[in-house]
Amino acid sequence: MESNYSYLQVEITNGILIARIDRPKALNALNTQVFAELGNLISVFAPGIQGLKGIVITGSGDRAFAAGADISEFTGIGTGKAKEFLTPGNVVLRQIETFHRPVIAAVNGFALGGGCELAMACHLRIAGEKARFGLPEASLGILPGYGGTQRLPQLIGKSKALEMMLTGDMITAEEAFRLGLVNHLTEAGKETEKAIEIIEKISSRGPLSIQRIIAAVNTYYPHLEAGIDEEGNHFRDLADTADFREGVAAFLGKRKAVFEGK
Ligand code: COA
Repeated sequence: MESNYSYLQVEITNGILIARIDRPKALNALNTQVFAELGNLISVFAPGIQGLKGIVITGSGDRAFAAGADISEFTGIGTGKAKEFLTPGNVVLRQIETFHRPVIAAVNGFALGGGCELAMACHLRIAGEKARFGLPEASLGILPGYGGTQRLPQLIGKSKALEMMLTGDMITAEEAFRLGLVNHLTEAGKETEKAIEIIEKISSRGPLSIQRIIAAVNTYYPHLEAGIDEEGNHFRDLADTADFREGVAAFLGKRKAVFEGK
């Protein structure tokens, strides 16, 4: 199998596809191209691999899984079109969530914003001890737009999910493990190894069972898509505010945002 991606490093070992998001200088921030490549990976490349056992998604380098959607692409997404901006990423995340083989996020560093949302769309999450999770969008005058308002409460409960989103604070790998956001903790750098071990175990079970379990568990959350749609409406409205423009300008200008509620 040949792949020709700019921002994904891809490797297939023993029937397991390992995809590394590869923009380390931007802490693997998810720009439009990364989402397009992840979309191709999950809908074209991976299904074409004979005997595929599962997929591991991780980040290149030792600092980040993905530090969010690429904030430099946020300038000018207002004027009522911000919801369309989210659509390709949301389609990819849903394809990952409903993929018929296990998809595991091996979180090796920052998993923030869209990076945390990508990890949450995977079936399981393994965190190295340096991993950090967070949904800091409120610090940018926006809200999580890739399903975070829906999937985080499912995974850790409404109370802690609201605290994480309202404060925008990051949590450590240990806390993420304690809250049930991650399935296993490992030494830094061993996340992918652990993910492979789990995929190997799953591949010894009935493949049709695996497929049906993933399908059935995803049916259990019938309101997810409606929730993500409504989240997108809020994202669109916030993207037209002065606070959002201030949040983005502050991040890009490396200063603290001053919000006025406008
Ligand atoms: N989008 C675009 N670029 C990003 C990014 C993002 N989400 N996250 C980090 N980067 C870039 C930085 O702009 C910086 O680029 P530069 O070297 O050209 O200036 C580079 O990655 C390194 O980040 P920096 O902020 O200098 O590293 P740090 O160690 O001081 O801080 C973080 C690390 C993760 C705390 C910080 O980068 C951060 O808060 N990132 C944004 C997280 C976020 O809000 N994500 C949600 C987006 S909706």
